[in-house]
Order: sequence, then structure tokens, then C-alpha cells
Amino acid sequence: MKPPRANRYRTAWAGELRPEHVGDKLRVAGWVHRRRDHGGLIFIDVRDRSGLLQLVFHPDRAPEAHAAAHALRGEDVLSAGGELVRREEGSVNPALATGEVELTVSDLTVLADAETPPFQVDEDGAVDESLRLRHRYLDLRRAPMHRALELRHTVAQAMRAHLNERDFLEIETPMLTRSTPEGARDYLVPSRLQRGSWYALPQSPQLFKQLLMVGGCERYYQIVRCFRDEDLRADRQPEFTQLDIELSFVDEEDVIGLCDGLLEAVLGAVGVDIELPLERLAYDDVLLRYGTDRPDRRLGMEIAELGDLLAGTEFGVFAGALASGGVVRGFRAEGDFPRRRLDELTEQAKALGAGGLVWAQVEAGGGWRSPVAKFLTPEHMSAVAARLGAAEGDVLLIVADAAPTAARVLGELRLAVAAPPESGHDLFWVVDFPMFERNEADGRWGALHHPFTAPTGDLDGDPGAWRSRAYDIVMDGLEIGGGSIRINHPEVQRRVFGALGMPEAEATERFGFLLDALRYGAPPHGGIAFGLDRLVALLAGSDSIREVIAFPKTASGSDPLTGAPAPVDQAQLTELGLALRQPRA
Ligand code: AMO
Ligand code: AMP
Repeated sequence: MKPPRANRYRTAWAGELRPEHVGDKLRVAGWVHRRRDHGGLIFIDVRDRSGLLQLVFHPDRAPEAHAAAHALRGEDVLSAGGELVRREEGSVNPALATGEVELTVSDLTVLADAETPPFQVDEDGAVDESLRLRHRYLDLRRAPMHRALELRHTVAQAMRAHLNERDFLEIETPMLTRSTPEGARDYLVPSRLQRGSWYALPQSPQLFKQLLMVGGCERYYQIVRCFRDEDLRADRQPEFTQLDIELSFVDEEDVIGLCDGLLEAVLGAVGVDIELPLERLAYDDVLLRYGTDRPDRRLGMEIAELGDLLAGTEFGVFAGALASGGVVRGFRAEGDFPRRRLDELTEQAKALGAGGLVWAQVEAGGGWRSPVAKFLTPEHMSAVAARLGAAEGDVLLIVADAAPTAARVLGELRLAVAAPPESGHDLFWVVDFPMFERNEADGRWGALHHPFTAPTGDLDGDPGAWRSRAYDIVMDGLEIGGGSIRINHPEVQRRVFGALGMPEAEATERFGFLLDALRYGAPPHGGIAFGLDRLVALLAGSDSIREVIAFPKTASGSDPLTGAPAPVDQAQLTELGLALRQPRA
């Protein structure tokens, strides 16, 4: 940290004092981190954002300060002045950055008293998360939280710097708006002045950034909050932050190239080197090889198609799947597989919707130890083992089913058997997406990305065969960003709404403003949004994005600190023209 501007509270950061400062008269301010009272000398570790420094109070040299120090308790706030001295030989603390020095205090000012905190701020031990969140202001005092917020700051500033240098404008977009279709539920805000009408909080600035392009802004970015009412997980918050970007007169190549450079700069700012260009993999290929569209390739264990090797097999499960247009796929699993584990994996495969799981251990000579070995020819077994790169002792896991089921089940089994990756990061693009996927529930088409993504292919033909100009970026098994080249002609936009089964009137009602804008000369444009919380969590090595958000919500969407969400006064409801039809949950 830069030296602080000296004032009556402090002239130096506690955590930055080193032997070269010995002899300096200085003043530090912060919280009582730890206190040891030996009857004679009193030692206090004072903590500020920069770290810790040991303060020493001598009963004879500074009796007033010593007496005041005697009354100090953990987390009291103080300002202490004195001389920095070298610690005696035997009392150097190598675990502390300031461990070679200490401050001999000549005067002490107690600035605020602290009650006993509900958990120890001076220990890194596990504390119940809801307690941490309830007292987040105490939790934030801990070094790992400081590090996370600093990392987040560095990442955000590197993003801004990179884009500012390239003529991007940072432009704000409304928070009180209309429903934006990113596929989640909206958070709604009732209007007082227009009773019965509602604003929606934006799921993303998607439509506004497109309107900015129609407005000739050319290059836009924003670090922006988005709101989505969906089921929460470790990598999902109801409000989260995107780095949102949009550019005019560009193709995929321009956006992906910009993002490659951006990621190199941002990761470089926190000491992570990546090699450019980042690899680009086709969606269909990724799904086949990893069973998910956001794989962590560091786990290895690629899935392979086996159907072509098994032509003519008499094993009913394989023959049946292939005859009905399905697939047989499998991978070589790494790890130990006692029989019980294989039975568990079989149960897991069934629970995930597969008819079963074929497992096989490759024996010397190429034969299999497997419940299905007797149904297969030696040629089939050795061909499959060869395709999966298996040697003697290796275990193969194989599923026969419709392609989407086989992909999903094998993708999950791959995750279930994988060991945590050792180090490094895995970053790559997924490109060449289908435009739509079939919604299981109602059989209708849904946009794989969003309905403003430019489609390709024969737009007069089956929408199931359309592709889209979308791209996703995946890091360490998480989708950290996604975007597309957009539709810039109203008639194409109408066709996409049509393919989604949206009646003309509804399209006009919900998105008329966009369709109108597209009629007034919309440039070719495209963009992307990165999930800032996810990116920072991966860089911090955190399991949950909550660890890199100052004031996150719990998994049930509540904030234990403020008590939100909370009931409101009857008067407020009345003013909004609202009445509760059901008692509060
Ligand atoms: P998308 O919906 O893919 O695209 O979101 C972009 C990125 O935002 C992150 N993200 C989340 N992070 C935390 N909690 C959540 N609930 C959450 N939801 C999404 C992910 C994701 O990759 N408007 C488009 C972008 C575009 O087309 O330019 C959009 O929002 O990392
Ligand atoms: P069954 O014919 O149902 O007795 O199954 C014979 C073997 O094939 C068992 O080991 C099953 O677990 C396995 N099996 C059944 N269905 C599938 C499937 N769809 N994919 C892979 N293995 C399967």
C-alpha cells in the first residue's frame, strides 16, 4: 500500500514496517488483534488493512500508556505512537511480515471500545457461515476477506484499464426497467405512481447495450449488477456482477480477439499467465468429449464414441441402443475401483437416467473382467480398450443410450471419479452452438443463448437445425462468460420470436421497442458478458462466489446482516395498492 497521508491517527501502515524503519518515530492505528499481558510488559498485535504489528508497552517508560493498554480488549480501536525498534534475537517472529520489529509505545489513544465479538477475528479457523454473514463487518476484518476484495478490485481495475485504452465508453443502464429475457425469473418492483404496474430489475443489460449500439456508441462496457431469481448454488447469487461489453461493426473474430487480450491483461494483473489465442472448441465436440458444455479439461478422462467399433455386436444393450439411433460411449476412469465403488457408480448412472452402466477392467492379454464380457468378442473388447487408451488394470465406464442421456450421464460420472486438479487454469472458448434446444417440459424450442443472438443456417428450414453466432468462455469447469453476434434486422428478430412460439402480438408487446430500434438502421454488433464474481472466485481459489462478494446472500437468498428480505408496513403496501393474499411464508 502507498504510505498513508499522515494525520493525527496514523503516520504509517502497521503491516508494512520493516527493519529499515527502525529508529523512526511513528504512529499506527487499528484494532486489537491479540493481547498478551505478562504482568510487566504488555504486548498487543495491532491490525489494520495492511497487516499486523506488535506494540510493546513498558510499565516504567510509559506508565500512562501501559495502564491504558492494561484495560484494552480484543477488537478495541486504538492509535499508538512511539519508536520502532528491532526485536530481540529470540523474539523474532518469522511468521509475521513485521516479525523483526516492534513499536515501543509512548502514547496510546483508545478510539472505540468493542464488545466481545461472536467469533474470533484473529483466527482463520472455520466459523459458521451464517454467523459470519450476520456479522459481515467483523468477518471482513479477516485477512482472507481483505485479500479477496483486493483481488476483486485489481481484476475490475485491470478490466477498466484495458477497455479504456481501446476507446470503450463506460455507460450506465437502468435498474428499474422491463423484463429482460435471460431465462430466469424476474425480481419485480411495484410502481406507486402507476398502480398495478411493475418494474423488473434487469437480468442483464442485454437490450440496453444493443440500443446503445443502435445509438451509435460503438464501444460500450459496464461493470454492472444483474438480478436473477433462480435456485441458488455456490456459483450463483440472486444479484451478481457482470463485465458487460458490446461493440459495433464486428464479427465473432473481433469480439473473441478482444476478449483474449482482455483476459491476458486481467489474469496477468494477478500473476496468472495464459497463452493466446485461447483454444476454440465446437459445442458438439465438447459435449461428446466431456458430457457437458463447461468441462474442466484438467481432469482428463475424455469420453469417446464407441458405436462404430461395435457394429454387429450381439450384446443386446449395445445393439439396441445403436439400432434405435442412440450411441455407445465411454471413458477410461482414473482411480481405484473396488467392486463396491463400481456398484455405486452403476446406481448413480441409473439415477441420472441411464439404463445401466457397463464397467470393465482390462486384463492381461486384452480381455475384460466385466459382467458383460461374455457377450462381447475379443475383437470388440480390444478395439474399445484401444480407442479409450486403456492398458492392463485400467477401468472403463461405458453407457449406451440416446446421445443426450449418454453425454449427461458420462459427464457426471467423469466428475464423480475425478480427483481435484493439481494446479494451473484451463481456459477455452466454446463456439458453433445450436440456436435452440428443445424444452423437455413443453416440447417448445428455447434459445440456447438468448433470442437476440444471430442465427445461421436455413431460416426457412427446421429451427432445430439452425446454428447461432454465440460463444462461451469456460474456465476450470465454470462458464465465466458468454455472448454472441446479434440480430440487426427486425425481420430476422421476428422469425426467431416466431420459432420460439411467441405470438406476433406478444413479441410486439414485450420487445416492440427493440423491433422499432432495429428498423432505424442497426449496425452489425455483438458482445459478451463475463461473470466477475465467478472469475474472481476461481482466481482466489474459493469454492463459492460468496467468498469474493462483500455482502452476499445465503443459499436461500436472504441477507442475515440486514434481515432482507423482510415484511413491510401495511401502510407501504396500501400506498402501492398491494394486499397479501396469502400469509407470509
Ligand atoms: P449470461 O446469462 O451467459 O449472458 O451471463 C453472463 C455470465 O454471467 C455469469 N452469471 C452469474 N454469476 C453469478 N450468479 C448468477 N446467478 C449468474 N448468472 C450468470 C456467468 C455467465 O457466463 N446478456 C448476456 C451476455 C451477452 O450476450 O452479451 C448474458 O447475460 O459467468
Ligand atoms: P441387463 O441387460 O439390463 O441385465 O444389463 C446387462 C448389463 O448392461 C448390466 O451390467 C447393466 O448395468 C448394463 N446396462 C444396461 N443398460 C445399459 C445402458 N443403457 N448403458 C450401459 N450399460 C447398460
